[in-house]
Amino acid sequence: MSKVVLITGGTSGIGKATSILLSSRGFKVYATGRNVDKVRDLEEKGIALLYMNLLDEESIRNAFDEVIKREGKIDILINNAGYGIAGSVEDVPIDEARKQFEVNLFAPIRLSQLAIPKMRENGGGRIINITSIASFLPSPILSWYSASKSAFGFLSFAMRVELSRFGIDVVSVAPAGISTNWPLIASSYLEKFSSNSLYSKVAERMFKFFENSIKSSPSPEIVAKKIYKIIMKKKTKPVYFVPWYAKLFYFTSKVLPITWLEKAYKLFLRD
Ligand SMILES: NC(=O)c1ccc[n+]([C@@H]2O[C@H](COP(=O)([O-])OP(=O)(O)OC[C@H]3O[C@@H](n4cnc5c(N)ncnc54)[C@H](OP(=O)(O)O)[C@@H]3O)[C@@H](O)[C@H]2O)c1
Repeated sequence: MSKVVLITGGTSGIGKATSILLSSRGFKVYATGRNVDKVRDLEEKGIALLYMNLLDEESIRNAFDEVIKREGKIDILINNAGYGIAGSVEDVPIDEARKQFEVNLFAPIRLSQLAIPKMRENGGGRIINITSIASFLPSPILSWYSASKSAFGFLSFAMRVELSRFGIDVVSVAPAGISTNWPLIASSYLEKFSSNSLYSKVAERMFKFFENSIKSSPSPEIVAKKIYKIIMKKKTKPVYFVPWYAKLFYFTSKVLPITWLEKAYKLFLRD
């Protein structure tokens, strides 16, 4: 019987590439998102699409129940969906910041809470949480994103330890810049919140950074391949980095004094 994968954010970027790869390798993939109608062609590849809005708890539960109704189990949950709000801490309205935490942190944990008892009944499972290099590097202008992903990384580690006794393995994957819609969405928030504020010059620099990152970053298939490798492993590590140089950022953040990081950011974001 095929292993059943439930992946959030399967309608675009990393989630879409992962859904396609896993389906081609014989997994039964349920890909979720709000815009499932835009990717109906995925159904021709054997991928089942389910509507899920992470800001709406009922839709999370409905999609989850549908997978259990059809398959009776979930072997692998990939909490991938997410987005980044760019803008200064001062400019971003608190309601938007709450939404950022809802989508990037509370919703994936809620979905995990639904999946855990089913995995336990089934003798085990694997939860793969997509965090970011922003989860260990505090990022000005991407501060709400960075805070939500760092909280997600911390909870992911705690869940790994707590759930190991039930044969449920929790892993986080921290990508560095990947060429997807992510920078475009982050830019749209920057435009909305900080382009006409006292931070407009800083915002301009960030726009350029996002523009370049779209052009020069690797495609999402690189993350899909990493996720496939993690799924196939018997024994996993708590965190994986992708591409390889994401690990360098991690070690740099651990060994460099915070004052150096502060200087580097100030230089990059100078007026
Ligand atoms: N690209 C990068 O450089 C990068 C780097 C580090 C980490 N990441 C992380 O990787 C993950 C995937 O991002 P991506 O780069 O593939 O970006 P993407 O192409 O923009 O895809 C984001 C996915 O998240 C889903 N999503 C967003 N808000 C949602 C909501 N309220 N409810 C349900 N689904 C929602 C979107 O689906 P719908 O629009 O259909 O709802 C979409 O499928 C994210 O968690 C992101 O933070 C990305």
